Amino acid sequence: MSDLVWHHLNLCARGDPNETIADAALAVRDGDIAWLGAARDLPREFARWPHEDLGGAWVTPSLVDCHTHLVYGGDRADEFAQRLAGASYEEIARRGGGIVSTVRATREADEDALFASAAARLEPLLSEGVGAIEIKSGYGLEFGSERKMLRVARALGRRYPVSVYTTFLGAHALPPEYAGRADAYIDDVCKRMLPALADEGLVDAVDVFCERIGFTLGQSERVFEAATRLNLPVKMHAEQLSLTGGAALSARYRALSADHLEFLDEAGVQAMKEAGTVAVLLPGAYYFIRETQLPPIDLLRRHGVPIALATDSNPGTSPSTSLLAMLNLGCTLFRLTVPEVLQGVTRHAARALGRGDRHGELAPNRPADFVAWSVGTLSELAYWMGRPLAARVVRAGATVYTAPASRWISGVAADARASNRPKGA
Ligand code: NIG
Ligand code: FE
Repeated sequence: MSDLVWHHLNLCARGDPNETIADAALAVRDGDIAWLGAARDLPREFARWPHEDLGGAWVTPSLVDCHTHLVYGGDRADEFAQRLAGASYEEIARRGGGIVSTVRATREADEDALFASAAARLEPLLSEGVGAIEIKSGYGLEFGSERKMLRVARALGRRYPVSVYTTFLGAHALPPEYAGRADAYIDDVCKRMLPALADEGLVDAVDVFCERIGFTLGQSERVFEAATRLNLPVKMHAEQLSLTGGAALSARYRALSADHLEFLDEAGVQAMKEAGTVAVLLPGAYYFIRETQLPPIDLLRRHGVPIALATDSNPGTSPSTSLLAMLNLGCTLFRLTVPEVLQGVTRHAARALGRGDRHGELAPNRPADFVAWSVGTLSELAYWMGRPLAARVVRAGATVYTAPASRWISGVAADARASNRPKGA
């Protein structure tokens, strides 16, 4: 790959709008950053390289979506209607709907169908500047279907310009065939599924849904033990609907992250701080299930726990394909600041994947994965609701996406209005 200097840009290299360089330049060699800084300080050796003008755009590291369930069959729009009629997320799950209904649809779908539906959700994320994404299994709940989901996740990473990190979430819900035998299912997860899937190279991390409608602390710990034996990092869906002590357990296993956390208490916060476990907040799920219990943001701040944000893209609690929407929801619903949400989808999200060395920050000798934004200020990234903002997405120094030019054709509007006029009008 040829050497290139990107210039005429404003740089926010660590995702923190309080640390920026106006009129900056970025020199890229073989896909990695060779140098960055103020353009006037550009070392001579780079001055001779070809230059690409970014027109004064703001540049940040590519975004990181560190918690998604992007691969699944079907959708749950019908359940959304039930919830609008008054049923709660938990009630629907107890009636055999919820996660288990997506399990049926996922088991029925073949790899091509799963790939196609997940790709349709991935593309909007990528065109917003997502350069790394975590994708969980957990809608198969038996070996072949969990394997199918993870294979599709890996295939997405080969087909699209994004780093995909896979998480085995076999302990997401109890499959119907194990009704009343949760411990036996956990045995299968720990002794059969996880080792075989890890052996195939399909697992980067292991997750558990520790909850009244998920698995107990004891069962979660057995999954963590199994992961630890295989040298795999762990994470947890913790304290989402009730306080179970899952976050503290996660900290004991040096979890990469504990996620959701609406019901987290101070002891859990403290344990996470000591273990270096990232708090992944999921405002899309909070919003979509109309949760009213806020995660303990002030405690997280006070103890200095890094906060990440993610889409939690899934059919039941967050059917979202926009990480920028989470910035807006994080600010409005959780009262996070713009610097907090921006670092929450860059640096801290990368750390929640255990890949703070690779993603979420621009620095010499790191990959040149960045986004040029069509905004006047970085606050706009959290401000606009639904407006496409990425002008250009660059991966390893190469442009992989440019915002499409407007395709409106003048002169058509009047005719269209005429033909849409109701009869008799
Ligand atoms: O992250 N909490 C459990 N898992 C998902 C929801 C899954 C579903 O409802 O399909 C979540 O919110
Ligand atoms: Fe989730």
